[in-house]
Amino acid sequence: MDTAEKVDWAALNVHAAGRPARRLVAKAIAAAGGDRHPGVVLDLGAGAGADSLQFARRGWTVHAYDTDDTLAGRLVENERMSGSVQFHHTDIAEVEAFPAAQIVYSTYTLGLLGPAALAETWTKLVDALPRGGVMAVDLFGTNDTWADRADIATLPLEDIDAMFRGFQIIDRTVRDEDGRFLADKKHWHVITTLARKLS
Ligand SMILES: C[S@@+](CC[C@H](N)C(=O)[O-])C[C@H]1O[C@@H](n2cnc3c(N)ncnc32)[C@H](O)[C@@H]1O
Repeated sequence: MDTAEKVDWAALNVHAAGRPARRLVAKAIAAAGGDRHPGVVLDLGAGAGADSLQFARRGWTVHAYDTDDTLAGRLVENERMSGSVQFHHTDIAEVEAFPAAQIVYSTYTLGLLGPAALAETWTKLVDALPRGGVMAVDLFGTNDTWADRADIATLPLEDIDAMFRGFQIIDRTVRDEDGRFLADKKHWHVITTLARKLS
């Protein structure tokens, strides 16, 4: 199994560049009141930007963060969208404070920060949301193959629920199945939560 450090995210992201946006994008926008008055989205670990670009096509201003800069080559698409993507080529764990946003969005990334950095980053992400702001993120659960890795955060459902104290959970989906990661077989346990900040 590759370690998180050894994964060639650039190669993986180039491969993923053409994928359709995840359904979670539309769910997050709907939970944030639709796109008649689009606001700001944070996309943590944006990869090749399929989801960031979809938010921007729907008029939202996206701050996309990633240590891999595949998305930088796609920002020319800003010319053709009513919203826009601003790319931050940085380690999420090193961001001191995030811009205020109506939606915090992240898929298949937050757990890669590891337990300590995830806890620190989570506080900053919650702080970026106003009352009524929407959190649309996934986290790895304890059935995941990566649960034996100290450098990846894999969390029991109770711990994930505790992170969402102060939120109303709108939707929860769980992926708990055998699959693949690069050349390896891998069990994925990915818990996706859509929630609205209460206060
Ligand atoms: C599994 S990919 C997910 C990409 C995209 N969100 C998706 O769902 O297709 C993980 C992404 O997180 C980025 N990443 C991993 N650790 C990171 C960190 N500490 N700071 C910023 N980006 C990171 C990788 O470069 C990669 O693009």
